[in-house]
Amino acid sequence: MRIAVIGSGSVGEGLARAWSALGHSVVIGSRSPESERMVSLVAEIGNGVEAAGLSASVTGADVIVLAVPWGAVEQSISRLGDVSGRVLIDATNPIARGLKLDVGHTSSGGERVAEWAVGARVVKALNIVDARLLDGRKLDGREISIPICGHDADAKRVVIALIAELGFDVVDAGGLDSSRLLEPLTLLMIRLSMKKSLGNEIGFRVLRE
Ligand SMILES: NC(=O)c1ccc[n+]([C@@H]2O[C@H](COP(=O)([O-])OP(=O)(O)OC[C@H]3O[C@@H](n4cnc5c(N)ncnc54)[C@H](OP(=O)(O)O)[C@@H]3O)[C@@H](O)[C@H]2O)c1
Repeated sequence: MRIAVIGSGSVGEGLARAWSALGHSVVIGSRSPESERMVSLVAEIGNGVEAAGLSASVTGADVIVLAVPWGAVEQSISRLGDVSGRVLIDATNPIARGLKLDVGHTSSGGERVAEWAVGARVVKALNIVDARLLDGRKLDGREISIPICGHDADAKRVVIALIAELGFDVVDAGGLDSSRLLEPLTLLMIRLSMKKSLGNEIGFRVLRE
């Protein structure tokens, strides 16, 4: 599968590394694809990973993943060009200064993304897992659960398969409005990780028979 990961930070790099190692064709969409940092990053990851500008990166991509800071989301989407009909994973969190949600309760970052990425088939996913765990390692002998949500069943099928390949337990949490529930969970994770000193090797698991 051809995957365009938008953003070359912790999440973008982690996903590029993990999916390319599984044989997917990954391009990192960056504001500066020709910078020294990007050239050495893609060389270091290897596995055929490429870097490109934002609009070039999504050409021919089966799946687009947004992995940029919340303040850059709307502008990054506008720089992708026409994304109608495309499967778009929103891995971002609408976190504002002071570790507060910029939007919540009656809307969500995921729903805003769907408004900005006109016609895209948006799936909220991967926003809760720490980027350092994107290699899909198990915790306490179990896979970490990754809740996902979105309105398009076919898009969700594609995303569920891609995330399961990384070694996660994927849980379908319903329509895109469930982003209102998934985004605050990130703040809980950050609080547990930093303020309660549980470290970064923590994750959620949905237990079921
Ligand atoms: N870190 C985590 O553990 C984690 C886990 C799950 C979800 N998330 C969410 O995923 C998103 C990305 O997180 P991250 O930790 O990967 O962020 P990051 O390390 O700060 O990287 C974000 C990347 O976005 C690109 N970008 C585009 N516009 C930008 C701007 N105005 N300012 C800064 N960077 C800009 C940059 O790549 P270029 O310079 O190449 O354009 C940058 O490397 C966030 O919304 C975050 O809440 C993070």
